Amino acid sequence: MPKDIIIAIDGHSGFGKSSTAKSVAHALNYTYIDSGAMYRAVTLYLIRQQLDVSDIEAVKAALDQITISFTIKDGVGPPLYETYVNGENVEREIRGMAISDKVSEVSAIPQVRKAMVSQQRNMSANKRVVMDGRDIGTNVFPNAELKVFMTADLHERAYRRQKELKERGVSTALSDIVENLAERDQFDSTRRENPLVKAEDAVEIDTTNLKFNEQVAQVVALAQKAMQTS
Ligand code: DC
Repeated sequence: MPKDIIIAIDGHSGFGKSSTAKSVAHALNYTYIDSGAMYRAVTLYLIRQQLDVSDIEAVKAALDQITISFTIKDGVGPPLYETYVNGENVEREIRGMAISDKVSEVSAIPQVRKAMVSQQRNMSANKRVVMDGRDIGTNVFPNAELKVFMTADLHERAYRRQKELKERGVSTALSDIVENLAERDQFDSTRRENPLVKAEDAVEIDTTNLKFNEQVAQVVALAQKAMQTS
């Protein structure tokens, strides 16, 4: 009997990490949780409230007002995941550059991280979860049965992110995406709270020269092995 496991997928922004995680979850009949979407949702809420993010008391009060949820729509191919804040579908808005420009700053706030990590753990109480992010293998699930650390060359990532945005109907200059990704890499990897680092026991996959299906297949194979041996 294969064991139920938690699959933690961490890595930089913008090379299809989330799409990979979604397809892996679909292939295994597991639930996918997009932890980045949760930080984006908080960022959107704080921006809308015109809140000064350095005012920690105000941020803490705001966190109590935010309920984040996901819906899953089945169709052809991997299901469509959409993010909701207090019942409103914010999926499109949280992917825009206004949020991307601010989300690293918001996700570095310790109180924000604490609140999100607690929700992420609650959402995964029954295992059978694929969660992607920056600190999943190092902080959210240090005992995850499978940890994967995915990377890709910066320009390749920017190109893939541009394509993904275009598919969502958002057109953005490649140079803006390169700049945003490079800034976020730097910020996410050097912040004090749970920086993006590879967990010691994570399997690293460089996807620069891999096709999408190949990167999915590699993770699925690792997961199937972990289900037998964990
Ligand atoms: O995966 P993404 O690009 O949607 O993530 C948005 C931001 O959220 C990213 O710049 C860093 C932050 N993040 C984080 O700090 N921890 C996570 N587990 C996931 C995302």
